[in-house]
Amino acid sequence: MSEVIAFKPKSKNIMTAKFHLTKDLNSTKADLIIVGAYQEDFPKDKEPELNGFLNEINDACENGLIQIAKLEAFEAKLGSLLVFPIFNKLKAERVLIVGLGSKKELNNLNQIRKACSIAIRRADSLKAKTINFEVFGLENKLDIAQISRAIAEVTLLAPYKFDKYLSQKDENKKFMGIETINLIVPSTAAEKQIQAQLEKALISAEAVLLARELIAEPPNIVNPAYLAETVQKIVKESSQTGLTLKILNKADCEKLGMGAFLAVAQGSANEPKFIHFHYKPKVKASQHIAFVGKGITFDSGGLSLKPAKAMEKMKYDMAGSAAVIGLIKAITKLNLPIEITVMVAACENMPSGTAYRPGDILTSMSGKTMEINNTDAEGRVTLADSVYYACQQKPTAIIDIATLTGAIVVALGETAAGLMTNNSELANNLKQAFEEAGERVWEMPMYDDYEESVVKGTIADMLNAGSGGQAGSQNGAMFIKQFVGETPWVHLDIAGTCWPEKRDTHFTPKNNPAGFGVLGFIKYLENLSQ
Ligand code: BES
Ligand code: MG
Ligand code: ZN
Repeated sequence: MSEVIAFKPKSKNIMTAKFHLTKDLNSTKADLIIVGAYQEDFPKDKEPELNGFLNEINDACENGLIQIAKLEAFEAKLGSLLVFPIFNKLKAERVLIVGLGSKKELNNLNQIRKACSIAIRRADSLKAKTINFEVFGLENKLDIAQISRAIAEVTLLAPYKFDKYLSQKDENKKFMGIETINLIVPSTAAEKQIQAQLEKALISAEAVLLARELIAEPPNIVNPAYLAETVQKIVKESSQTGLTLKILNKADCEKLGMGAFLAVAQGSANEPKFIHFHYKPKVKASQHIAFVGKGITFDSGGLSLKPAKAMEKMKYDMAGSAAVIGLIKAITKLNLPIEITVMVAACENMPSGTAYRPGDILTSMSGKTMEINNTDAEGRVTLADSVYYACQQKPTAIIDIATLTGAIVVALGETAAGLMTNNSELANNLKQAFEEAGERVWEMPMYDDYEESVVKGTIADMLNAGSGGQAGSQNGAMFIKQFVGETPWVHLDIAGTCWPEKRDTHFTPKNNPAGFGVLGFIKYLENLSQ
């Protein structure tokens, strides 16, 4: 048994779990044993030939595993489950076999994540507190430390619910009760590497859970000041050196000439806050990455008011800022050799006597002017000033993340975030990192044609919502592009992925905030550090 890594986030609302490394199935008493199985282990119309842990389990219950598998026609398809009691013939009450599909086809961490998320959600609903969990999928080229990390991240993130405001907690539907995971690894495994990846998993999961919490909290709690205070707290509690944080209030933003951002904010009784975080590593950094998150704490649409149904969920219009705030939390622990700037222009988009109007012409911090033809296209207006200010810090690349358009939900559903860019190398690095991290992004084209709609047909330099009803996501991206100049830039539109409603993802049960982007960004920064 190796040293313990404990995950102890401060919030009571999220799971705490400890991970241990162990070598065998049966060394510690557990509520549940989780083991993976391949389709080749359970051939159709043939007697299963089991080895390894499956054999050990089958022997312990006198051929019981084979009998149950036959009875249930278990074929070990990816994500299929076989759960049965073992009557303490091993040091556990139950066994859960999770199908990994065909051995030949298991070559991607996302297959591991899928099997793990299904298994761990069942484990959680069985109220298992202690689990002996085989690190599965080692037969092919996948790296054991990476598999362990994937399993740890999914374990901490897949069983999630936000029940803080329920006065009667539903104890029968017990989620997030897992306390201890004994990860079973082969005796030849490089424990140090696994431990290092597990630590990263814990930091990553904690960052995602923070982002989720910010998104899930209602908009009467999470206002611009709340976001700013959250970052203040993270920085204050951190022992990491090289951190600076500036919170700009309305007057500060006026001095800087942020006429676009402040116009969106002016309809709300909540004062806007501009968050400017900076991390400078001790070592000399060749890279300086700026992250900018859309931080609309509630999007009513403003005077171009949204219909009731479309407004219902608009507390999540700060999911981009939640992702970069989660990232800040991770940055304070990862000791990265990269300079990082994070910015959020936080405000609320409200209709009122002081609200900005369709027809208004605004002067942005860059000096460029824009006519407003729809106050509901507010995200890009706030981003205009925030990406411009971020570029003034001279980053080597800038990445913005925003719940920007309903059009991206039409195009990609909740399955993938839209990626748009002015630089294919940066885009490819991000795409690779997100793929590795298990978050899907899909690139949308940025043909010149799309630019016309936002830079023509108005008496100002730009028209915020564009003139045509086509290619809405690209129009939004083209608008933001006007403010990044030559800086390599990627825009992520997460309107579809920030809150899955149709199905569970590996990381997020449906109808919950995903915290999308945090894992991909962490992976991107890690890859850059190597
Ligand atoms: N926050 C919305 C985008 C959005 C829509 C996010 C659905 C999540 C789900 C954004 O501010 C918005 O309202 N965009 C408009 C732009 C349009 C007026 C050009 C939209 O997509 O309808
Ligand atoms: Mg809007
Ligand atoms: Zn919005």
